Amino acid sequence: MYGPLAETIRTQRLVLEPLAVHHADEMAPVLDDRRLHRYIGGEPLTRDELRARYAHLVAGPAPFHQEYWLNWIVRRARDRQAVGYVRATVTPAARGFTVTPPSTGSTVRPGPPRRIASVAWVIAMPYQGFGFATEAARVLLDWLLAHGVHDVVATVHPDNRPSAAVAAKLGLRRTGETTGDGEDVWRLPHGTPPT
Ligand SMILES: CC(C)(COP(=O)(O)OP(=O)(O)OC[C@H]1O[C@@H](n2cnc3c(N)ncnc32)[C@H](O)[C@@H]1OP(=O)(O)O)[C@@H](O)C(=O)NCCC(=O)NCCS
Repeated sequence: MYGPLAETIRTQRLVLEPLAVHHADEMAPVLDDRRLHRYIGGEPLTRDELRARYAHLVAGPAPFHQEYWLNWIVRRARDRQAVGYVRATVTPAARGFTVTPPSTGSTVRPGPPRRIASVAWVIAMPYQGFGFATEAARVLLDWLLAHGVHDVVATVHPDNRPSAAVAAKLGLRRTGETTGDGEDVWRLPHGTPPT
């Protein structure tokens, strides 16, 4: 079990609230815009469809997947308006190895488990351009790095310039790799400390 389940996180202007099924009622109208799907595929969901999706997300994957789904609704702090969401899918990465120094017997053991998080951000149309995605994603990365995640990746459609701008501002770098569906893979360079 992945210890740190999503908890409420606050920034100067935002509150990130762990996803619950009831959020579908307020999120459905906020996310009801086809332009949000231009680079991420799919289409706006009805309230009932969103409820079913959130129920699935909140339930999480089957345990044998060894994968954890962390989802937050992003609210503006001053008026509690829901403005979007962020999410992280955390999976175990290949274990490294720890070499005990020769002075103590020179053994090679499996290193501590490493975890990799794939992150994504969505901000509804009326609230874009205010730095909300950057602010929410930055605190998400800080939270993940402080809670046992070692590697952070994001996949971004090559034409999605706002999302690429967010990734770059977070310190992620385009790796040159692409996913099967043609998205650019961005990765946090190793050793990047939490901000
Ligand atoms: C990507 C997204 C989350 C950005 O949200 P946002 O709150 O507007 O983002 P921010 O305000 O934090 O930053 C956006 C950056 O993109 C830049 N940007 C916006 N439109 C741009 C464009 N057409 N070309 C280049 N840069 C652009 C902004 O200037 C800003 O950078 P700056 O602060 O250096 O000026 C939002 O556009 C969105 O939800 N899009 C639809 C869903 C999506 O594609 N999600 C990404 C999945 S990887």
